[in-house]
Amino acid sequence: MSATATPQRVPVPGHPEGCETPLTAQVGWQTPPGAFYTRSHFLPTPVLAAEGWQLSVEGAVERPLALTLDELRALPSHTVIATLECAGNNRTALDPPADGIQFRCGAVSTAEWRGVSLATVLHEAGLRSDAQEVLGEGTDRGHEKSLGREIPFERSLPLAKALDPDTLLAYEMNGQPLPDEHGFPARLIVPGWYGMASVKWLAKLQVLDRPYGGFFQKTKYIYEVPGQESTPVRTMRVKATFAQPADGDTVTAGAPITVRGYAWSGEGAVSRVAVSTDGGASWQDAELTAAPGQWAWCEWSLEWTPGAAGAATLLVRGTDAAGNVQPLDVPWNRLGYGNNGVQQITVNAR
Ligand code: MTE
Repeated sequence: MSATATPQRVPVPGHPEGCETPLTAQVGWQTPPGAFYTRSHFLPTPVLAAEGWQLSVEGAVERPLALTLDELRALPSHTVIATLECAGNNRTALDPPADGIQFRCGAVSTAEWRGVSLATVLHEAGLRSDAQEVLGEGTDRGHEKSLGREIPFERSLPLAKALDPDTLLAYEMNGQPLPDEHGFPARLIVPGWYGMASVKWLAKLQVLDRPYGGFFQKTKYIYEVPGQESTPVRTMRVKATFAQPADGDTVTAGAPITVRGYAWSGEGAVSRVAVSTDGGASWQDAELTAAPGQWAWCEWSLEWTPGAAGAATLLVRGTDAAGNVQPLDVPWNRLGYGNNGVQQITVNAR
């Protein structure tokens, strides 16, 4: 089995805008500082100064606001431990291959986020009765070929999610100011939703009186399946994945090992993780460790003694409290989002 080391964030070959962190060295619930995966559509990473930064709150509100970082920090704070997973995680497992950054299984990480409930700021601004959605705009921009113009990264939230007390305007990650690559000085954290909703480098919040139809919501981040109407990518689908052993590891026949990993869902607590050590012929329930919070992954483990020498195929499958079960067949969609097909590794017993 691979020795436990520090988790390392590595760029996807040819795609520095996506860096993933294999879970093989992950221990405990918190992704170590500097190892949390990153996904930024427009490089270089914005490096913003706290001084002079303002978050404007405008649109369908009674009292438009312009908050400095100090003013934001002076509001009552709220802390949430949340797992973020990029919607493109596990895209490499799709057949036929889907467009987009070819993430393996490391575009998922967990941190403690501190900030102000978005609801607190919306309350300060006073939502008008025609308010429908809240659009968050980042300072990062880039040329979008298909549109022939420059666009910012921006995404909207329906009012109910925007007003969830755990939806944050976060300014701290694991007790430190947000690192530049994670959105300094402030970002949205939308627990339970795939990472694209958690807009980094926030510049503006615009309360809309109509549904938003921009590029990162109507052209990207949709489940597009031939012959079906497209649906938006939102909550994280239930997924359990391996940390150790790693795919391809050598294990000793007859010597017990702990098979372990992580499981999460945006639709309810993980209620069951089942593991197969014989390629799916039989399944055993893994032991679950309580998640550190409602929106965070939990750890699972199973003691296993590899039998005869040779290759063994291990599978892991999560179920959540809402009754969602990880599918055995990968749910293909054109843009390769939300792939929560059952995870599989092969180890060699000697
Ligand atoms: N926010 C801005 N402003 N620009 C971006 O490109 N990428 C989104 C989201 N927020 C993005 C953004 C995507 S697709 C993901 S998965 C998460 O940020 C990743 O957050 P992280 O880099 O802190 O892990």
